[in-house]
Amino acid sequence: MKQILSLFVVGLVSLSPLQAQEKPVYLDETKPVEQRIDDALARMTLDEKIAVIHAQSKFSSPGVKRLGFPDLWTDDGPHGVRPDVLWDEWVQAGQSNDSCVAFPALTCLAATWNPSLARLYGESLGEEALYRGKNVILGPGVNIYRTPLGGRNFEYMGEDPLLASRMVVPYVQGLQSKGVAACVKHYAMNNDEEYRHQVNVIISDRALHEIYLPAFRAAVQEGGAWAVMGAYNIYQNQHNCHNDKMLNQILKKDWGFDGVVISDWGGCHDTDEAVKNGLDLEFGSWTNGLSEGASNAYDMYYLAESYKKAIREGKFSTKELDEKVRRVLRLFYRTTMQRNKPFGFLCSESHYDAALKIAQEGIVLLKNDVLKGSKNPLLPIDLSSTKRILVVGENAIKMMTVGGGSSSLKVQKEILPLDGIRTRFAGIDIDYARGYVGDTIQSYDGVTVGRSLYDIRLQAELTAEAVAKAREADVVIFVGGLNKSDYQDCEGHDRKTYGLPYAQNEVIEAILKVNPRLVYVNVSGNGAELPWLAKVTAVVQAWFIGSEAGEAIASVLAGDVNPSGKLPFTWYASLDQCGAHALGTYPGTWREGHQIIDEEYKEDIFVGYRWIDKVNSEKRKVKSGPLFPFGHGLSYTTFSLGKLAADKKQLSMDDKITFTIPVTNTGSVAGAETVQLYIHDQKSSVVRPVKELKAFRKVFLQPGETQHVSMTIDRSALSFYDEATGQWKAESGKFDALVGTSSAQLPARLTFELR
Ligand code: BGC
Repeated sequence: MKQILSLFVVGLVSLSPLQAQEKPVYLDETKPVEQRIDDALARMTLDEKIAVIHAQSKFSSPGVKRLGFPDLWTDDGPHGVRPDVLWDEWVQAGQSNDSCVAFPALTCLAATWNPSLARLYGESLGEEALYRGKNVILGPGVNIYRTPLGGRNFEYMGEDPLLASRMVVPYVQGLQSKGVAACVKHYAMNNDEEYRHQVNVIISDRALHEIYLPAFRAAVQEGGAWAVMGAYNIYQNQHNCHNDKMLNQILKKDWGFDGVVISDWGGCHDTDEAVKNGLDLEFGSWTNGLSEGASNAYDMYYLAESYKKAIREGKFSTKELDEKVRRVLRLFYRTTMQRNKPFGFLCSESHYDAALKIAQEGIVLLKNDVLKGSKNPLLPIDLSSTKRILVVGENAIKMMTVGGGSSSLKVQKEILPLDGIRTRFAGIDIDYARGYVGDTIQSYDGVTVGRSLYDIRLQAELTAEAVAKAREADVVIFVGGLNKSDYQDCEGHDRKTYGLPYAQNEVIEAILKVNPRLVYVNVSGNGAELPWLAKVTAVVQAWFIGSEAGEAIASVLAGDVNPSGKLPFTWYASLDQCGAHALGTYPGTWREGHQIIDEEYKEDIFVGYRWIDKVNSEKRKVKSGPLFPFGHGLSYTTFSLGKLAADKKQLSMDDKITFTIPVTNTGSVAGAETVQLYIHDQKSSVVRPVKELKAFRKVFLQPGETQHVSMTIDRSALSFYDEATGQWKAESGKFDALVGTSSAQLPARLTFELR
């Protein structure tokens, strides 16, 4: 026995150095990744290379089995991990372990103006993705809110490039810290949904770089995003999924992106362009693998057999292919081959806590007046004097985590607003009236909506019921807005009108006649016309906020949480206040043959508040200001800003300047204020916006507490994109720093000079 043992030991000792030597470089974790990539690439056959650059199922692409690279699994994104669909079809797979936590939609995240919550969001989502075995999350989305009709605005981070940039970076970093890739989408100029495959965007270089690209750039350069999704639409007559200027020049060359460009699902249209113009990984092309293209239809992808054939015939060398595979391998090493990543978990308390916190901080108190005869504003609801609350509206009982397109989820739990209100206000008589019937669809994408929304009563009956019950109530909470059905906040189309759908306006007006104590809670990812606004005392913007929606809304209405969200977009009174609509550039002009629609971004860099400022400064006839300006949001406490100071009066081109302002909570409850710094250029060789957001800081203050808030900028905050040189340019001269609490409330001002 001893002999056998010692033989065994000798065997081991003599084997180990040999084994170590034989460990191939591509598997050797002590070797630099780039070296491992070179080694793996050198070992791959042409077939293996072609295989890894296109899908093998709806959401997966193959690894390299022979070499031990696992398959790559992607999934939507961006608000939770989408339930599994069948291999080749969009139909639900019917798994029992794919219910997730729905985090608030990205508009809500942006409305927190709190980058640390974006980090928490990314980390929590990453943990859910890991548990579900997903390596790439198809999100976040950072397309700019150009028109409030945009069907997918709810999935994005608002109208301002700086705000979106500051919020996307920590999301990406948080997600990727878990070993799950972010796939930042939709690059770029996919700013509306109508005709999204056919829209050819015509835009100046300046608007492209100043408005539409900064958030993508930040995600790539600061966030270190491992993947970017090409958009469906067309730019300079080339689809964005294989657009030379967008992908090869800007993304890869100028920004140094070393990750993978993934096509949007079905966004690839041409082998030659896909080969040459920077697409790395093709997904979602036409097949369903069954009724269409039954015999391995994935071979018919643009980057599959036809590409291989072209290489075999000598049309292409393997130069482009190797470059694509290199990037895909890099993604493998970052995700599937990364062995240090955690295991992840689904639906944990910590994820629900994160979802709740983000929702509570993102809810925006838009209006909160004191009713005639009362001492206090209507909100928070005074529990001592309130005996009966009436909740009205379909959105109080409608699940919003389902619907809306690819971001639709299958949740373990979604607290509906009515349920959240009932729980929080237990002890008070809570009644409900439907008010109107909107969308009663019971299931979406195979996920069933919990409660039946079926109701056949006539509108007159619904209105009469709401009015009768409102008469008896101390407070009426109307939960309305948009929903995620087609032509609302939903992928694939835009809204047809800016007004609220269904009979909402009519019901609100009728209730106001009998009870002015009405709180309007708006659920949406977009602004809407609110024709009765002057008559309504309190308005809360509640977004689509996911699993904890009802609890978050109730906690704000009750005052357990002091609202601190700020609008990430301008809430126009009417569509003509928005540049794209004022200039009639939306949705564009069809070319002959009705194949392509040219959409010229004529408002140029003047998007959102930049347009409002421009119109106001030109003293053109604007009917009135927007209903609520960009950056607006109230609190249950009050804040005062002190004197603005700067650490210098002049700065050189390589210098920084720091602005400091004292902020005091002058009210009686704790709360948070977001201090916003905008820059005005006094004189420039080009036309510039009146002001642009360049920094912000959210501070939490106890009653009576003062904090000095500092914000530092450098010349990049003073620069514009110079079309002549294709560079950012800062011109010496005088600038004003404008500091305040919304784009329309900027009481502190200081002039400084760039030399
Ligand atoms: C959407 C993407 C999504 C993809 C996969 C596309 O239609 O535009 O945002 O990630 O589908 O579901």
